[in-house]
Amino acid sequence: MSIISIVNQKGGCGKSTTAVHLAYWLAQNKNVTLIDADAQQSSSSWLARLPKEIPNAAILDPEALFDAIEEASNQYDVVVVDGPGSLSEITKTILDISDLTLVPCQPSGLDLSSSSKILQVIRQRQKVRGGQPHVGLFLSRAVKGTVLLKEAQQALSQDQRFPLINSIVYQRQCISDAPIQEATVFDLAGSAAKAAQQDYENLFMEALSYLG
Ligand SMILES: Nc1ncnc2c1ncn2[C@@H]1O[C@H](COP(=O)(O)OP(=O)(O)OP(=O)(O)O)[C@@H](O)[C@H]1O
Ligand SMILES: [Mg+2]
Repeated sequence: MSIISIVNQKGGCGKSTTAVHLAYWLAQNKNVTLIDADAQQSSSSWLARLPKEIPNAAILDPEALFDAIEEASNQYDVVVVDGPGSLSEITKTILDISDLTLVPCQPSGLDLSSSSKILQVIRQRQKVRGGQPHVGLFLSRAVKGTVLLKEAQQALSQDQRFPLINSIVYQRQCISDAPIQEATVFDLAGSAAKAAQQDYENLFMEALSYLG
């Protein structure tokens, strides 16, 4: 069993979109559940409308959340946790129980400077937990060939403690359209969806290798 969370207090960086795609992708050959710890409940309501059923629950109380994740980890191969768009007790609870936490960062100056806050919190939890959880940063909603993307790659590669995953999730219309279509990009046809599937697959394969 593994507990994989997606955290970053920066709103709109792609946590819920990544969490849903990760759960859906893993569910091809694993027993997976998703726990939605965000008050907006976007990932759990999205999952409820998908063709393939994935068990999920929305939990907002930090203590109840810890217990629910622990319990789920005894029942499922993988528990995916979608974190809130704020730095709260909930985020710390998630970091206290995750095996691997993924941090999506949008390549913009503001997003990068706010990511230093979540990395500070992660470093402190790692200190308390003897190095856990494993962490992978990744670039999310990136626009190909931009100076911003290049600068963000450089900025996020600086800190050896928090490796930057090579795979990038690019900004793609088919990804933002997926929830309205009651789908993930894995359910969609066409070359744009294929490219998005590849982005996610590369990201997830690389991220899973961090679990050892
Ligand atoms: N790679 C992408 N390409 C295009 N649109 C994207 C991509 N990733 C996410 N989005 C869109 O960006 C918006 C924010 O994404 P999402 O809800 O996943 O972010 P979040 O980090 O969970 O936000 P919050 O902090 O509010 O929970 C959504 O409209 C989503 O469809
Ligand atoms: Mg969200």
